[in-house]
Amino acid sequence: MLHLSLADPLRRDLDRAVYTVDRMRGLWGDVADDALQRADRVPALRALAGRTEPAAVLARLFVLGDGVAAADVAAALPTTGAAAAVEGGLLAAGDDGLLRGAIDLRPYSVVDALGVTAWWIASDLGELATGQALRTDHVLGIGGASATLSGLMLPDRARRVLDLGTGCGIQALHASRFADQVVATDISERALDFGRFNAALNGVDTIEFRLGSLYEPVAGERFDRIVSNPPFVITPRRGGVPEYEYRDGGMVGDALVAAVVAGAAEHLEPGGVAQLLGNWEYRDGVDGLNRAAAWAQDARLEFWMIERERIDPARYAETWIRDGGTKPGGPEWEPLVGAWLDDFAERGVDEIGFGYVLLRRPAEGAPTHQPLQRAERIPEALGENPAGLGPHLSAVLAAHDALAALGPDGVDDHAFRVAPDVTEQRSHWPGEESPSALVLRQGGGFGRSLQVSPAVSAAVGASDGELALGVLAGAIAQLLEQDERAVLIEIRAETIELIHCGLVVP
Ligand SMILES: C[S@@+](CC[C@H](N)C(=O)[O-])C[C@H]1O[C@@H](n2cnc3c(N)ncnc32)[C@H](O)[C@@H]1O
Repeated sequence: MLHLSLADPLRRDLDRAVYTVDRMRGLWGDVADDALQRADRVPALRALAGRTEPAAVLARLFVLGDGVAAADVAAALPTTGAAAAVEGGLLAAGDDGLLRGAIDLRPYSVVDALGVTAWWIASDLGELATGQALRTDHVLGIGGASATLSGLMLPDRARRVLDLGTGCGIQALHASRFADQVVATDISERALDFGRFNAALNGVDTIEFRLGSLYEPVAGERFDRIVSNPPFVITPRRGGVPEYEYRDGGMVGDALVAAVVAGAAEHLEPGGVAQLLGNWEYRDGVDGLNRAAAWAQDARLEFWMIERERIDPARYAETWIRDGGTKPGGPEWEPLVGAWLDDFAERGVDEIGFGYVLLRRPAEGAPTHQPLQRAERIPEALGENPAGLGPHLSAVLAAHDALAALGPDGVDDHAFRVAPDVTEQRSHWPGEESPSALVLRQGGGFGRSLQVSPAVSAAVGASDGELALGVLAGAIAQLLEQDERAVLIEIRAETIELIHCGLVVP
């Protein structure tokens, strides 16, 4: 258990040592930094071998799992003190007389819609530092999925936010930037310990940590926003298969994600939004993305489901068995792959989708004729989003609502604008004057590419917020010598789609 009383002195020591992301990269260099991303610590260990300046000592202890002499630790932690750090759960004394980190503690910096922020995040040491498989109650640090979800968060102000399955508290810290109050829950007391420590270490006092499964700790409460990177990894319920708390909610198949979606309805304020990551199974020919959309429909929530990738059961099994520290070739590998494949076969699963889920409880008095109900596949690389996708999602939600407010009859009288990050690519057959394909490209957002007709291209190009869509369509039909009504119907439908993709703005 980490002693919360250490948070203040430790912050002073980390600050004084300039223990930052840039400093660490500077200390061990780009090659070692890249090697660390691939879980190889050797170049970094070599770069820092024998280095005793405080930032180097901290990185050796808390990132690399290196042993450091007590005198050097004392010099790096003058306010905290080496003995207090051992007693308070930050360090452990080895048989070799050296001190080592008992936790992972590293700087983290990010740019979001509110600007740059930097924190220090404590979590359990990973395999890189311990050289051992993870314990089943391992508390995860900031991984790829954590960064994906925090980047997706709507940056708009909120009164209360729930972070379900908070782990080391990273989503709660992000949410605290735009929320008055955050409730962070987890089934793991150990995770909550880390979460509380991280909040205190970073001087954030607006997060309340609560123990319990799913929505139990917030029974009867509602939130403006729910965020969750839930333990969505599908795991066979069979003897011999380790159940890692950090990634596995203990249910069969994708039932955990379905439960988080179903429960959101009861815990969102009207107009409130839930954002989560998830897996969904394609079963016996039933489309997995449609199954996920049906969870939201059953809960009477608006939804925007985005499938980013889809993989087969064998690749899924390999990914998550490796993630737990088991490598091909060992005695456990084949039985584990077999267990995963049997489990998927029992439910007729032939593919597993991964993606982003956005749910919204309809606002009171909101127009009901055009609810947000989108389920789409976007496997492409994302566009340029320095502050994450959150601002884009927020803008598209606002655009959807503005469109709904216009009503079915108001669209033709409205003047739209092309978004500033849209460019057009024209492809010509050699020697041909008119293009054979027109593609609109989005620089930010999801980096979409959408092929359009010459009429739609002309309408988008002329959408400068001055001319109503109906007037534009009439002029374009005349120019192209096409039927006016047919051109209007096409331009209207495509403009609505482009608004939902963020390429055109009401
Ligand atoms: C994938 S981790 C996410 C951690 C962190 N929020 C992040 O984004 O990096 C999932 C977290 O959910 C917790 N968890 C597992 N089962 C749970 C349950 N039934 N209810 C609430 N949390 C649970 C785990 O302990 C773990 O901390």
